[in-house]
Amino acid sequence: MTDFYKQIIENNKKWVESQLSLDPNFFKDLSKGQQPPLLWIGCADSRVPANQIIGAKPGEVFVHRNIANMVIHSDMNMLSVLDYAVNALKIKHIIVCGHYGCGGVQASMGNNSIGLIDNWIRHIKDVYRLHQSELDSISDEEARFNRFVEINVQEQVYDLAKTSIVQAAWKNGQDLNLHGWVYGLNSGYITDLEVNFSSNKDLEEVYKLRF
Ligand code: CO
Repeated sequence: MTDFYKQIIENNKKWVESQLSLDPNFFKDLSKGQQPPLLWIGCADSRVPANQIIGAKPGEVFVHRNIANMVIHSDMNMLSVLDYAVNALKIKHIIVCGHYGCGGVQASMGNNSIGLIDNWIRHIKDVYRLHQSELDSISDEEARFNRFVEINVQEQVYDLAKTSIVQAAWKNGQDLNLHGWVYGLNSGYITDLEVNFSSNKDLEEVYKLRF
C-alpha cells in the first residue's frame, strides 16, 4: 500500500466530517435521488476535474469522461450516459469541455503509434482532416494545437446534436441545450466557444432526423 493510497482514505473521512459539520443531512438528502441540471462530457485528464473547476456540489453534474472528450455515436458507454441523462434525468444542459494541452489531441496530430489507443485517436484525426485547410494554414505549432482543441470540441458538440437521442428530445419539445467549452490548464479559466444548439435546425440536411 502506498502512502498516497492510505492518505486518500483519510482524506475521505475528513471530507465526510466536514460535510456533516456544514449540513448534518448532507448525505441523507443526496441518498434520496439526483436531479442534476447538467451533463458534462469532458477529458479523462486528471487536471480537469468536472465538479471542482465549476464549483459544483455532489448531485449537480452528471459526468462522462474519456480521452479527448469525444462523442462517438457508436460508443455504448457514451450513448448510455446520454440516454439516461436526457430521458431519465431530463437534464437541461450538456457541456462538452475540452482543454488546451490535451494529450489525446496532441497525439492525433503526430504519427507515432501508441497502441490500442491509436484506434480511439483516429476519431480525432478524422476531425483534423475535416478542418485540414484551416489547421495547416496556422504555422505556429502551439497556435495550431490550441485551435485544433477548439475545433475538436466544436465537432463533438455537432456530433451530440446529430445523435438520435438529442434530436428525439428536441422533437418532443424538451428544453435541451448543448454547449462547447475549453478549459485552460495554465489559467484555470474556461472559454465558452459559443457553439450552442437547442434544436436541429442548424444541422446539415443529411443529419436531420424525421420521427
Ligand atoms: Co485531454
